[in-house]
Amino acid sequence: MKILYAAAEVSPFSKAGGLSDVMGSLPKALEKDAEIAIFTPLHGCIDYNRWGLKELENSEMWITFGSSPQKFKLHIAKLPGTDINVFFVQNDWYFSCFQEVYPRWLDPRYEHERYIAFSLATLEYAKQLNFRADIIHSNDWHTAMIPLYIKANYKFDEFWSKTKNVFEIHNLAYQGVWFEDILDFANMRKDIVFNEWGCEHYGRVNWMKGAINYSDRIVAVSPNYAREILTGEYGEGMDYTLRGHTDKLVGIVNGIDYDVFNPKTDKTLVKNYDINSIKNKEANKKKILEEFGLKYNPDRPLIALISRLVEQKGLDLIRQVEGDLQHLDADFIFLGSGDKSYENLFIWLSNNTPNIRAYVGYRGDLANLIYAGSDFFLMPSKFEPCGLSQLIAMRFGSLPIVRATGGLEDTVTGYPLDNSNGFKFWGYDGWAMKDAILTAMYVYKDKYTLNAMRKSAMTADFSWKESAKKYLEMYRSLI
Ligand code: GLC
Repeated sequence: MKILYAAAEVSPFSKAGGLSDVMGSLPKALEKDAEIAIFTPLHGCIDYNRWGLKELENSEMWITFGSSPQKFKLHIAKLPGTDINVFFVQNDWYFSCFQEVYPRWLDPRYEHERYIAFSLATLEYAKQLNFRADIIHSNDWHTAMIPLYIKANYKFDEFWSKTKNVFEIHNLAYQGVWFEDILDFANMRKDIVFNEWGCEHYGRVNWMKGAINYSDRIVAVSPNYAREILTGEYGEGMDYTLRGHTDKLVGIVNGIDYDVFNPKTDKTLVKNYDINSIKNKEANKKKILEEFGLKYNPDRPLIALISRLVEQKGLDLIRQVEGDLQHLDADFIFLGSGDKSYENLFIWLSNNTPNIRAYVGYRGDLANLIYAGSDFFLMPSKFEPCGLSQLIAMRFGSLPIVRATGGLEDTVTGYPLDNSNGFKFWGYDGWAMKDAILTAMYVYKDKYTLNAMRKSAMTADFSWKESAKKYLEMYRSLI
């Protein structure tokens, strides 16, 4: 079986969010069962030498969009630790010129052009490489054009005649919406695709809707999210369309790469540990508190938050109760970057409270030390398709405090249930969050329960093992 993955970001080459982690780890878990090729844009930030990229000979290709021809080239590297080929599509005008995976302040039409160009070039290159995929697995709106191209432009192309489309929703909030004229740029036939059964949504082009209508399977990144997106509350205006396709919608929870996230071997930690040497976790707590200028006190829990700073992540709840948090007998360390208003909130809290400190920006090594050094991990998300940070936190023995939505509901077992590995609250409300924090602080004093919960968290299996099997079954059922 041949599988082609197409995605805007792939770890470790390019990373902005969870999509990247999934693309860097799910294929790895399927390496023995399938022949895999991953296609992704050659972003300017990709470290060419570090990852050993090479340009493929004679790879130059011109594709005409609208009325202007665009030049592409193709580069290759192995996904680290595997024999899987990752292909990087180079186009200087759209991708290589940016250091960020998702540059800010781009003209939205240009955003559409970028991913249309990438998606079409991916299909053209796959053909040139004679990679006749049984399955094309595209992800989020950036590559949502692919199923449309396959079913419209390549409808009579023998090469793709047996190919099935799987479309994965990592986040329904970004659907890729633009005016109808973008179809001219994409060289797509309006009479085929621009209607209710294609990509037309309230008079605009909506790429995600097109992918939902045209794909053979739709995957949501957790079973609970697969249910939630059928409702008005979480459906982002797409619930009606999705309800018409429940027969092909599945929810499969994401895993994380247990080789990459491992407190026993992680070189960024001060002291390594596992379930049998959990005492060593404390040295990391001391270190991280020191880094952030807070005093170590074994009686005070350390609560961490590592996140993209966007509305989805529920940071408004922190804003709501910041007055209360700064008087708790606990310390807080926040790390992340994103919307300016949240960045400013974090800086303000850092400067003006005795117990809250923040690092605005992203540093992987610091993040790992925070996972290792913290006792609890806060994730008050407004919605959360799957969430990977809570899985990483559990692996490091930091107990998640989460709003029970999306994948957080599926992966965290809330205190005081049997085998609980975290704390849950339900209402989207700062005081509900504070209550959950107070419960966690109460459990922190009871070392017997705390250790039992840490053990449940650290021994739970959130690797790709089980989920990869579900993907494989789904792919097989299609061909
Ligand atoms: C997106 C979602 C997140 C999910 C990730 C990987 O970033 O917001 O919940 O875990 O994709 O699927």
